[in-house]
Amino acid sequence: MYYSNRYFSNLYDLVVCMTNAVDLISNEVANHHHQVAYLAYNFAEKLELPIEQKQTLVLSALLHDIGALSLNDRLELIEEEPFTAENHALIGAKLLSDFPLFSDVANVIKFHHIPWDYGKGRLCGGEKVSMLSHILHISDRIAVQVNDKKNIISQIDKIRENIKSRRNTIFMPELVDAFLDICDTESLWLDLIYQPMVSNIPNDLYLEAIKLTLDQVVDLTKIFSRIIDFRSPFTAMHSAGVAAAAEKLAELSGFSKDECKMMRIAGNLHDIGKLAIPQNILEKQDKLEPAEFDIIRGHSFYTYRLLKPIRGFEIITQWAAYHHEKLNGHGYPFHLKADSLSLGSRIMAVADIFTAITEDRPYRKGMSDEKTAAVLSQMVENGSISSSIFSLLMNNYKDIYNIRKESAEKAVEEYSKIVSI
Ligand SMILES: [Fe+2]
Ligand SMILES: [Fe+2]
Ligand SMILES: [Fe+2]
Repeated sequence: MYYSNRYFSNLYDLVVCMTNAVDLISNEVANHHHQVAYLAYNFAEKLELPIEQKQTLVLSALLHDIGALSLNDRLELIEEEPFTAENHALIGAKLLSDFPLFSDVANVIKFHHIPWDYGKGRLCGGEKVSMLSHILHISDRIAVQVNDKKNIISQIDKIRENIKSRRNTIFMPELVDAFLDICDTESLWLDLIYQPMVSNIPNDLYLEAIKLTLDQVVDLTKIFSRIIDFRSPFTAMHSAGVAAAAEKLAELSGFSKDECKMMRIAGNLHDIGKLAIPQNILEKQDKLEPAEFDIIRGHSFYTYRLLKPIRGFEIITQWAAYHHEKLNGHGYPFHLKADSLSLGSRIMAVADIFTAITEDRPYRKGMSDEKTAAVLSQMVENGSISSSIFSLLMNNYKDIYNIRKESAEKAVEEYSKIVSI
């Protein structure tokens, strides 16, 4: 892992933010990643694994199902071990492997549904399957058996017998033995379902000591933006386009190099709260019903809540989460007015609208330059967006348009690689 004295944030805060975001996809699987991480941590303790392996295991557990992008995929995973399980594991590994600090994590995730099969599960397609993948597997299969609505302690016997019956076929024998040693401890199970649970991983793993530089946060959030966008082909390039347009507008506004990178990070994450919005609403082509629009209005609130706890993200949170606020106070969800909206937040609002109306969607072409100018100038007139940012955009239109387009095209290319896995 990477340690530096000059850092911007830390890896753990960012991973937990993504875990919480992915778990917003459905109430039925809420806390799944935290539960699996907690169980995996207890296996690692029991087996006295070295600290680096414990860190890798817990980070892998917190992100293990990020390759399951739609709600249906997620629900399938909490039921029986699905036939398609390997697909989401491969997608998750592929998405994460682009971040150098995650090379081990990606490998653990890649094989988190491989059965032990009397030792054949040591390998998969010629590649070595780490014991950490097998720990993740058994932790995942234990977590899915927990019924949050019934008394947890009354469920221990059934879960113990179920895991025992799959010793050597599905699970590595020494992991089943380790589980049998720890499973009668009531506190293990009570911790697992304790609410409000954010993370039950104790500080002794020193995960917060894994610091990230600003450049590393840019790279990591680019991966997160793919997880946010690739849920639907309708939005597969949106965050990439917003991030590129916002960064360029920031540069033209005289922001420092570091501030421009922060703007890119905010663009990458501005719609992270959209993971809480059902896919059928995100993909609806007709006009939204009022009740559906009420649901949409929650998304930038969730962006705010998800980003706020990240240390070092005080300014980025505002730039990202205020992208639907309007200078006249008619935006959402905070109804902020001009005096509370910084230049960075104003830039993000313009970058988001500009990107949304000019990008092509599978069901429509992006707006023409003239129409875009007309729509935005109307918004300046009614006091929604900043007139100076609007002028900046108009004066550099071709440049910003091309930057946005290139970045969207790259994202679409990556999207087709991922979905063809
Ligand atoms: Fe999985
Ligand atoms: Fe899972
Ligand atoms: Fe949005």
